[in-house]
Amino acid sequence: MRILALSGSLRQQSLNALLLREAARLSPVGTEVVSWERLDDLPHYSPERDLDPPPASVAELRGLIREADALLICTPEYIHAMPAVLKNLLEWVVSSGDCVAKPTAAWSASPSLEGGARAQAALVHTLEVMSARVVHASSLCLTLARSGLDDEGRLKDPAQESALRAALDALAAAVVTP
Ligand SMILES: Cc1cc2nc3c(=O)[nH]c(=O)nc-3n(C[C@H](O)[C@H](O)[C@H](O)COP(=O)(O)O)c2cc1C
Repeated sequence: MRILALSGSLRQQSLNALLLREAARLSPVGTEVVSWERLDDLPHYSPERDLDPPPASVAELRGLIREADALLICTPEYIHAMPAVLKNLLEWVVSSGDCVAKPTAAWSASPSLEGGARAQAALVHTLEVMSARVVHASSLCLTLARSGLDDEGRLKDPAQESALRAALDALAAAVVTP
């Protein structure tokens, strides 16, 4: 089972990207979490640019989404919402319809006490408008600072590690039980 992981941050040391690497390490047996890290290569979306063929980065992204059994999107919170770069990514995949019915986990990570819950809620709303199959049992809002990860990027808190495993298990279960 292939899970395509998308981080909504452009930062080199992004907590959200690090969390997705942890997801790859902790993913259940029989699943593979593969990150697409070309968010910065996507042009600004405009319907006038949404041509056939689309820009190369868009074509690559859409192909990977089509081939994936499930999506795992992890968003930072910027001004109580998802960052514009992630919304831009979602705009590129509306017209292709590749997210329709795709089992999708919506995660957020932020140093704040709410763990980016408002951005996560906005992400869920947008995904539902796009007719993705949001797997609510696999949702996660993690309060996370760099100090919550060790030098190898592993979660220090066993409760957070368990939450991650449970969310991944729920996503994998949703794929096999439509
Ligand atoms: C422009 C900006 C706005 C932010 N707004 C919020 C916010 O509304 N809520 C929040 O919890 N954190 C906010 N933060 C802090 C981010 O959650 C924090 O920088 C986080 O590490 C970003 O995710 P990343 O590490 O994956 O890049 C903001 C950060 C920036 C740069």
